[in-house]
Amino acid sequence: MSRSAHPAGPRHGDVLPEGHYAAPPADLNDLDPRVWARTVARDGDGVVTVGGLPVTRLAEEFGTPAYFLDEEDFRARCRAWTDAFEGADVFYAGKAFLSRAVVRWLREEGLNLDVCSGGELATALAAGMPADRIAMHGNNKSPDEIERAVAAGVGRIVLDSYQEIVRVAHTAERLGRRQRVQIRVTVGVEAHTHEFIATAHEDQKFGLALADGQAAEAVRRVLKLDSLELVGIHSHIGSQIFDMAGFEVSARRVVGLLTEIRDEHGVQLPEIDLGGGLGIAYTPDDDPREPYEIAKALRDIVSRECTAAGLAVPRLSVEPGRAIVGPTAFTLYEVGTVKELEGLRTYVSVDGGMSDNIRTALYDAEYSVALASRASSAEPVLSRVVGKHCESGDIVVRDAYLPADLAVGDLLAVPATGAYCRAMASNYNHVLRPPVVAVADGGAREIVRRETEEDLLRLDVG
Ligand code: LLP
Repeated sequence: MSRSAHPAGPRHGDVLPEGHYAAPPADLNDLDPRVWARTVARDGDGVVTVGGLPVTRLAEEFGTPAYFLDEEDFRARCRAWTDAFEGADVFYAGKAFLSRAVVRWLREEGLNLDVCSGGELATALAAGMPADRIAMHGNNKSPDEIERAVAAGVGRIVLDSYQEIVRVAHTAERLGRRQRVQIRVTVGVEAHTHEFIATAHEDQKFGLALADGQAAEAVRRVLKLDSLELVGIHSHIGSQIFDMAGFEVSARRVVGLLTEIRDEHGVQLPEIDLGGGLGIAYTPDDDPREPYEIAKALRDIVSRECTAAGLAVPRLSVEPGRAIVGPTAFTLYEVGTVKELEGLRTYVSVDGGMSDNIRTALYDAEYSVALASRASSAEPVLSRVVGKHCESGDIVVRDAYLPADLAVGDLLAVPATGAYCRAMASNYNHVLRPPVVAVADGGAREIVRRETEEDLLRLDVG
């Protein structure tokens, strides 16, 4: 097979990428520690390993596509967050990826858990997360979800609308409980991220706005209800954010509301939650903040603002999802076809696609990729890694340099797929969702098994 390479620069007709893939990396075999899980390396034969296990062996045992999650890395990241936020509370955002094993790890590492649906709540409770360490989110919780959360005794419900204030209050009253609640406010920050994952500007569905007085009105309403205990204010400004400025504005505005509440009602609320949203490295171009830097920036601003307003510093909580689980996993695929489009690029089809990673299609997300089953010294070729779905937008990695000798049967690994990949996986084209395999202590085990055709047919009752 003759495959053209153009490390020397653009040729006629080339559509060259920007950023990380604007030029081929010096060595295609390099595994940049910014994007790969902690225990990922290449062995003496050039095979990528995780926790010391070669991906060739893992692929034989578990098949492809599959997500491989480095449990040691997950636990280390949990500890980095709890250490950095000592004296504050870290709630892992379960929407990024949740399973019973993950809940057990969180429990053991001393984290709390943010859930945003009945399904996430059920998973948390099934794996023994103490209810008082669970926060219940969602902009339209159903009456059933509210009832289950209150009955379970969750540590807090984050209220998102006037209607929900009434619903939660009635449910708590009926069940003879006093439910701890926070109010989610919209602070009016433009987070620098994709529009679909920015949540604190005013024209979107979440929270109650500070600017038009709805947040203050929600506080008034909640404080009148005996079955609700208002413990704090919550703000989440968006996701995959690198710039701390948005969090600082958010913290300042939330403390501003606490001050207004003190002045109007004579009460000082004891908690504030500044949400999640910290970005991770998907390519070596991304430069995420470390938990201790984030903790320092947030604590400094909160204590400065509180001191200026004469408020006692409230207990802080945060809700990282992606920043904990995202970097800990990679997806392993097998190459099925390689098509060279003369003068354009090479299309490499793998055995998964938008059903196991919708982020590229949905948010234009950038990923990196490496040939994992062997090292190669062949020259780099501008490539696009695509899936097996009947859709031309089914792209896993839009721009990537892969070695010119890439062949059918090679294994490709896409790093940083721990967050919002299995969690947003679908059965499009009746493709089966891949397993999540946890690697730890020299062993590997499925924590979410591969879906089967029987699983699909079981739902089909026609
Ligand atoms: N807290 C709340 C209230 C949230 O809504 C979210 C994310 C988080 C915490 C966690 O955010 P993280 O630290 O993981 O960025 N599917 C999108 C991300 C949607 C995020 C939704 N809410 C993606 O794949 O980028």
